[in-house]
Amino acid sequence: MGDTRAKKRFRSQEWFDNPNNPGMTALYVERYQNQGFTQGELQGDRPVIGIAQTGSDLAPCNKIHIFLMDRIKAGIRDAGGIPMEFPVHPIQETGKRPTAALDRNLSYLGLVEVLHGYPIDGVVLTTGCDKTTPAMLMGAATVDIPAIALNGGPMLDGWWKGKRAGSGTIIWESRRLLAEGEIDYDEFMSRVCASAPSLGHCNTMGTASTMNAMAEALGMTLTGSSAIPAPFRERMNMAYETGKRIVGMVLEDLKPSDIMTREAFENAIRVNSAIGGSTNAPPHLQAVARHIGVALDVTDWQTVGYDVPLLVNMQPAGTYLGESFFRAGGVPAVMGEMRKAGLLHEGAVTASGKTVAEALEGWESRDPDVIRTVADPMRPHAGFKVLSGNLFDSALMKTSVISEDFRARYLSEPGREGVYEARAVVFEGPEDYHDRINDPALGIDDRTILFIRGVGCVGYPGSAEVVNMQPPDAVLKQGIHHLPTVGDGRQSGTSESPSILNASPEAVVGGGLAHLKTGDTVRLDLNASRMDALVDPAEWQARIDAWTPPEIRSQTPWQEIYRRHVGQLADGGCLELATAYQKVRRDLPRD
Ligand code: FES
Ligand code: MG
Repeated sequence: MGDTRAKKRFRSQEWFDNPNNPGMTALYVERYQNQGFTQGELQGDRPVIGIAQTGSDLAPCNKIHIFLMDRIKAGIRDAGGIPMEFPVHPIQETGKRPTAALDRNLSYLGLVEVLHGYPIDGVVLTTGCDKTTPAMLMGAATVDIPAIALNGGPMLDGWWKGKRAGSGTIIWESRRLLAEGEIDYDEFMSRVCASAPSLGHCNTMGTASTMNAMAEALGMTLTGSSAIPAPFRERMNMAYETGKRIVGMVLEDLKPSDIMTREAFENAIRVNSAIGGSTNAPPHLQAVARHIGVALDVTDWQTVGYDVPLLVNMQPAGTYLGESFFRAGGVPAVMGEMRKAGLLHEGAVTASGKTVAEALEGWESRDPDVIRTVADPMRPHAGFKVLSGNLFDSALMKTSVISEDFRARYLSEPGREGVYEARAVVFEGPEDYHDRINDPALGIDDRTILFIRGVGCVGYPGSAEVVNMQPPDAVLKQGIHHLPTVGDGRQSGTSESPSILNASPEAVVGGGLAHLKTGDTVRLDLNASRMDALVDPAEWQARIDAWTPPEIRSQTPWQEIYRRHVGQLADGGCLELATAYQKVRRDLPRD
């Protein structure tokens, strides 16, 4: 190690030890040594390791990273690096209006500027809450300096009256019980708070656990990193090891583009099916792929991922929560089982420097009730269907959460299994839904398909998690918990609703959903992966010709900038202009 270090000239030395510009070198050194770093440290043969801090009082899902910081820094120091922590724009899923999704790209932009413009040789990306993980991976992808992700980990399991109370999932259940008059508001509040017993992110296989599993499946973490609950000793150990490892990655010049290859993305898509992962994973992985320059298409989620079985028995698709998942082995145990069945590209390189095959050596399920084998799965096909038709070019359906009751009610007409036709009721965003869902004039019954539009990236803005619309109270009281729902927004990864989501292009940019009217008949055909409005083509064309874009009013400058430059969910909801910047350096100086 000493030899490699002696010979290597680090990126940070262009700031702290630049013979071409001694004046600026002095200025850079002067202001960094004032916090106690010695000149020798800054100008020596040590890499500077940035630590992207996503935790704060405003971002409780990631706040554990504030307490992990001394372990991360200790690891970096022990391996010979100089740690420098810096803040990133907070993205708290349950704090930010109108939606945290709006800020994924803002946080990404901020990270790109820091990694590009400061003396940083490698970076530890602290991750946790839903959008923090893709934002950090996207930024590292664009700048392409050595980077490793460290999840803060899920909260401890929540419990309510002797039963597991999972993040988010308990909200959907409890709001139903409230609507049915089974519980009062005080109990509603107590149930929901019981699901959050400690620091950490959602303890279900919602978007946070999913995206951290994706980071691990992509190879961007150390093996076994993502599932460790936030308060556990192993989480602190992992913080230390991650800090140590990033220094090695800098010395080896192991970059995100070496790790996040097409094979790595295919591994991640398959792991997402096996864990029963969130429908938010496709747009996030798509965004990471575009920023690293890997060709990925939304249809890959069906072709690569649909046939993979569901192995993980965790809410919302199953029973358990994060603690059990960790004890059963977490992501490497799932991948170990998949590997035995030949479901992974084993040659992909991981942050450890090992291939997937080497990293997974000896890993398998430690509890077959929580992590099943491929031969005995929870369900045989756990991936997403990618639908198209005259209402959208693409939309996703998570088939692993279709309940037996839902399948029997809507998808099992004899001779037409998987095909369902019904009357559409259309809402213009969540406010309209809340105002009118219980209006008897809409005639909503168990044979209705609910649509919501105007909630995509441009429309909302940021794309809202509102497609899992609860049926009207009268339908709920008949014991029907889910109607088919469709929309150009997203839904929470903690929801067990089999909605049709992420419809692209969205209505406000003229996607087919814009032309649907309440009362139209719509056909879902899962066998053909299609959904169409059964409207006479001449009438449909007349609606298209008569359509004018709705007026859009932004509340902040960022909302306006975002709306001008954002693409569709099917393409990752990226700032389109940003995808042209790859392996950024474009030859840095201007010092
Ligand atoms: Fe932050 Fe679920 S709300 S992880
Ligand atoms: Mg969410």
